[in-house]
Amino acid sequence: MKHLLSTTDLSRGDAILILDTAEEMAAVGEREVKKLPALRGRTVVNLFFEDSTRTRISFEAAAKRLSADVINFAAKGSSVSKGESLKDTAQTLEAMSADAVVIRHWASGAPARLASSDWIDAAVINAGDGTHEHPTQALLDAFTLRRHWAALAGTSPGGSDLRGMSVAIVGDVLHSRVARSNLWLLKTLGADVTLVAPPTLLPVGVDSWPCRVNYNLDEVLQSGPDAVMMLRLQGERMNAAFFPSTREYSRRWGFDDARLATLDAAGGRSTVIMHPGPMNRGLEISSAAADSPRSTILAQVRNGVSVRMAVLYLLLSGDSSGEPGRIPTPILQENPA
Ligand code: NCD
Repeated sequence: MKHLLSTTDLSRGDAILILDTAEEMAAVGEREVKKLPALRGRTVVNLFFEDSTRTRISFEAAAKRLSADVINFAAKGSSVSKGESLKDTAQTLEAMSADAVVIRHWASGAPARLASSDWIDAAVINAGDGTHEHPTQALLDAFTLRRHWAALAGTSPGGSDLRGMSVAIVGDVLHSRVARSNLWLLKTLGADVTLVAPPTLLPVGVDSWPCRVNYNLDEVLQSGPDAVMMLRLQGERMNAAFFPSTREYSRRWGFDDARLATLDAAGGRSTVIMHPGPMNRGLEISSAAADSPRSTILAQVRNGVSVRMAVLYLLLSGDSSGEPGRIPTPILQENPA
């Protein structure tokens, strides 16, 4: 595979290879010297047309840990705000010999347009396009879930999928690229998915998606899911009133203190609470829930770096590293530059 545009492009084997490689990258992250020389001399461009904190920093850290050169390009403050097109921007990057372009764009389909064009030669990685997809977020979520699943079973996560796991994705599914990428990947990995949202925040055609739909969060929590993935209410993408008030939204679909207490009172249940960030604390998730021992929110951020290292490594170093997809032992052992 040359690009990473959508989780629908990943077979079970591809996904497991990325997760297993990310485990090896995580092991590197625990060493005193966290850097590998694997992408020395390669250039990764972060091309961000939309705001981002976690994702951009995470890609930057990932590329730097692999010794690549990183160029950060934010549309604000660049010639894009003077009206330069995606094509002109891309050709400028090509002239700078980018090996990979990590792109976040407000328009669904922009990364695919870039990848299918002859404007650039670089590998294209979708870092979130409109309401469409955010594949590396889904991969880091799957990585986090797989570790949780393995810890429960007392096994190691390597090689395994998420068969038998139940995941509830809760909130603004309509505007969420995180929900879409997660749904496809979770299905590929064998998990069972339930979407929980007000009817107005579910997309048309959701009945044909490979999941259950439930409008009642308490009912879903009672069924004891292994994970509850809370989505941010994406006000910036809303052009109408989708629910009566934020107070009502939070009472019915927010992970609040009362729901946390109910879950805790249910005893040995090991349900984890996830959120991709940025959070609206007090709206879709309460501070007590976000900061509770059940929360995997900071682990997700940490795991994001390992997963993005794996993606960059697999896309950029395939041809020179012997057996495709394995981190060659000499690279792991070599001293960093
Ligand atoms: C998400 C995004 O930008 O799609 N955040 C992220 O990448 N960590 C989710 C969101 O903005 O709500």
